[in-house]
Amino acid sequence: MSLTEGPFYTPDSPEKTDFRDDGSGDAVTLTGRVVDTRCQPVAGAVVDLWHADDLGRYDNSGYRYRGHVRTGTDGSYRFETIRPGYYGSRTRHYHVKIAAPRRRVLTTQLYLPGEPRNDSDWLFREALLVSLDRAHRVLVASFEFVVPVG
Ligand SMILES: [Fe+2]
Repeated sequence: MSLTEGPFYTPDSPEKTDFRDDGSGDAVTLTGRVVDTRCQPVAGAVVDLWHADDLGRYDNSGYRYRGHVRTGTDGSYRFETIRPGYYGSRTRHYHVKIAAPRRRVLTTQLYLPGEPRNDSDWLFREALLVSLDRAHRVLVASFEFVVPVG
C-alpha cells in the first residue's frame, strides 16, 4: 500500500546500500523483495530509501541516510542502516519509493513492530510493519513490496 512521502524527500539519491557510516544508532538490516501481484520477482526496480537519524533528524542538505539500490533478478534488495529516531508526532519509520520498470512509482513508509508510538501516529499502518528478526547483534527487518503486474 502507498503512503505519503512526507516533507523530507530529496531526489537523485546516490546508489548506496550501506548507511552505517552516516551516524550512530542501533544496526538494522532492511531487506526483502519486490514482487508483482502474481508473486513474480521484479528485477531492476529502484528501491530508494530515506529516513531520520537516531535522534529523529533528516539530512536535508546532503545524503546521510539516503540512498537507492536496484533489485536483483530475484527481486531482492538489502540495506545496512540503523533504527531511525522518532520526531514530532511520528513513530519510527522508513520512507521508500519503488520505481519498477514500466510501472507507476510506489511511495510508502515502513514501521517497526512493538514501538510505543505506533498507536498514536495517524500515519501508522499495520500493513506496513516489517518482520523483525535478530541475527547476532543486528536487527533484520524484512518487507515484501508488491507492485502491479507490468
Ligand atoms: Fe519521515
